[in-house]
Amino acid sequence: PDSITVAELAKRMGEKAADLVKSLFNMGMMVTVNQTVDQDTAELLVNEFGHKVQRVSESDVDIDTSEDVDPEDTLKSRPPVVTIMGHVDHGKTSLLDAIRGADVAAGEAGGITQHIGAYQVTPKGGDPITFLDTPGHEAFTEMRARGANVTDIVILVVAADDGLKPQTIEAINHTKAANVPMIVAINKIDKDGANPQKVREELLQHEVIVEAMSGDVQDVEVSAKKKTNIDKLLEAINLQAELLELKANPDRAADATVVEAKLDKGRGPVATVLIQRGTLKVGDTFVAGPAAGKVRALVDDHGRRVKEAGPSFPVEVLGLSALPSAGDPFTVVENEARAREVADYRQRKLDEQRTTAAPMSLENMFAKKG
Ligand code: GTP
Ligand code: MG
Repeated sequence: PDSITVAELAKRMGEKAADLVKSLFNMGMMVTVNQTVDQDTAELLVNEFGHKVQRVSESDVDIDTSEDVDPEDTLKSRPPVVTIMGHVDHGKTSLLDAIRGADVAAGEAGGITQHIGAYQVTPKGGDPITFLDTPGHEAFTEMRARGANVTDIVILVVAADDGLKPQTIEAINHTKAANVPMIVAINKIDKDGANPQKVREELLQHEVIVEAMSGDVQDVEVSAKKKTNIDKLLEAINLQAELLELKANPDRAADATVVEAKLDKGRGPVATVLIQRGTLKVGDTFVAGPAAGKVRALVDDHGRRVKEAGPSFPVEVLGLSALPSAGDPFTVVENEARAREVADYRQRKLDEQRTTAAPMSLENMFAKKG
């Protein structure tokens, strides 16, 4: 972090890289444009070229929301965010589809369900639940690796005719590592050879003790295909969510996480974000990873334009300057200059990581030829 490539330094100084190399040579340093120099050397160079040095530390530029905690009395309850995990072919996608079909809000509005990376379901007589539409532990671990802990509850799907399999066990381990409560959906109970009790016993061996075995992990027998007990599963989620007392402050500038981003032919870069606190509004200025922007439009999971989105709501955001990655923080900032500053800083850091990952050293260049 305390070094910079000659090329990047030249770019920032508005000088030719070759002139910097020459100057370094005169100082007794053999450096190519792709190699890095340390801060002191960089400062020396900057002075040499008659520029003023401005050392900027990370904390001055990037956004750090870790200290920014909302007071207790501003918190209001928010919907849970749920991720579905399980072994291949055990029915994750089928279950997500069955759950989506149980959404009363969708029927009322007559909106067409869009696949935007996350969606919200309001079961009959229940509270809204947000589902991440990217089943599987890959998305889960990837997001977590990037510091985004967006999941409140994991649904572990196990096919009753197949039992615990390697990816089931992996999912259990990921969930435990993340310290996220789990609900077990024992799926495919309509099939011949379905043996839910065997699943419960196998879970026991991995220290997942379901209620039917006197533990505290809720288990629900379902059939995603026949849509059996989907309501029970949703009830179990609502119950778990109540226990968690999930809350966020809706009355502040929005903090969100990117769950999906794609380049849309007609609309340009589009990101689906999950609001974690605050309310995102059309017209807000934001930074999303290395991208900056101003919210041009917000689209919900039924393809409807909305003016704002509060905690735990997934929305598509239009108006990005570039494509962020899943797991990137999305933060509303006070003005465009600030958004640009942070976005540029992050982009530079990404570029630096790329160049220092594959440094072209003189040593390498000569060693190859010998
Ligand atoms: P991957 O995305 O490949 O990991 O699979 P998945 O976990 O998303 O499983 P998917 O929903 O694609 O289902 C796999 C197969 O199981 C499909 O042929 C489904 O029709 C079938 N299936 C899913 N749920 C049920 C069920 O409740 N009963 C029966 N009989 N079949 C089911
Ligand atoms: Mg699937």
